[in-house]
Amino acid sequence: MTRILITGAAGQIGTELTIALRKKYGAKNVLATDIKEPKDSPVTDGAFELLDALDAKQMCKYIRDYKINHIYHLSAMLSATAEQYPRKGWDLNMLSLLNVLELSREEGIKRVFWPSSIAVFGKGAKKVKCEQYEVQKPATVYGISKSAGELWCNYYFEKYGIDVRSLRYPGLISYKTLPGGGTTDYAVDIFFKAVAERKYTCYLKEGTRLPMMYMDDAIRATLELMEANKNKLSVRTSYNLSGVDFTPAALAASIRERIGEFEMSYAPDFRQAIAESWPGSIDDYYAQKEWNWKPKYNLERITKEMLTEVSSQRVNEYYL
Ligand SMILES: NC(=O)c1ccc[n+]([C@@H]2O[C@H](COP(=O)([O-])OP(=O)(O)OC[C@H]3O[C@@H](n4cnc5c(N)ncnc54)[C@H](O)[C@@H]3O)[C@@H](O)[C@H]2O)c1
Repeated sequence: MTRILITGAAGQIGTELTIALRKKYGAKNVLATDIKEPKDSPVTDGAFELLDALDAKQMCKYIRDYKINHIYHLSAMLSATAEQYPRKGWDLNMLSLLNVLELSREEGIKRVFWPSSIAVFGKGAKKVKCEQYEVQKPATVYGISKSAGELWCNYYFEKYGIDVRSLRYPGLISYKTLPGGGTTDYAVDIFFKAVAERKYTCYLKEGTRLPMMYMDDAIRATLELMEANKNKLSVRTSYNLSGVDFTPAALAASIRERIGEFEMSYAPDFRQAIAESWPGSIDDYYAQKEWNWKPKYNLERITKEMLTEVSSQRVNEYYL
């Protein structure tokens, strides 16, 4: 029987992944954990425990108490925040992953999921359709931690046979939980401002193309990778994963098709340099070939669904 522990479960991805995993494996088989207890979150509807992912002893206790055999390790400091707190970001992202990998080895965990990011790419990597094995020269602390993390995952697979699986998520767009300090957060914020104020000031330049994905696609990709036949997976660092790619100007135009008076202005800040260091689009040949990955959401469908779902109640939550 699959018994799952999720770290960082109260975050943007964790909230929706917890719901999906409970639906699939049964609520009693999924333990959600986070360093803080979220308010009014579906995550606390089932088993929930406070856990600092840096506390290996406590993590080990939960693995034993709940007879855990699969781990989804999501807690991390994201790109924009980690540029403000480089050492803290490195410590959280690296040491928590090493806790998970080492405990997986010691406690016989059968499968581990850990997300990487398009941030592993930097100078020298192709901007258009960046391939799986492009050079990795990340320009951010976050990217360095993801690049090193990928190698640690591969190491534990090669050396100890731990079945670690990973995806290089692009920027994720969702409405259930707000994003937590990434460079692509504008692509969520914009919908709340569009509904509430009919205008938005973007911290990236209008032509900054970045790879993005709707959360439903990201959750489905995660479940599909975790269920894929082990023998078909050749990538044990992390799979390139593609959804859509667009610029702030294209997103604004897409919103304007539904909210005619929507106005966009631009005031680039430090996140512009981070965004410029990343590819604009991703080639996910191996994900397509080895576990049949195919996204379902294009820009038009994302815009339609986000504007429908960002109800006035959610707008109020956003401004609280
Ligand atoms: N959201 C994206 O666009 C995106 C893109 C690429 C990769 N990722 C990766 O996906 C994972 C999840 O991202 P997210 O967007 O849900 O992040 P998030 O910031 O929304 O959530 C992270 C969660 O981790 C928790 N946390 C922080 N410190 C902790 C600690 N010491 N112990 C336990 N929990 C702690 C936070 O309370 C938060 O609930 C991260 O590894 C991130 O790097 C996210």
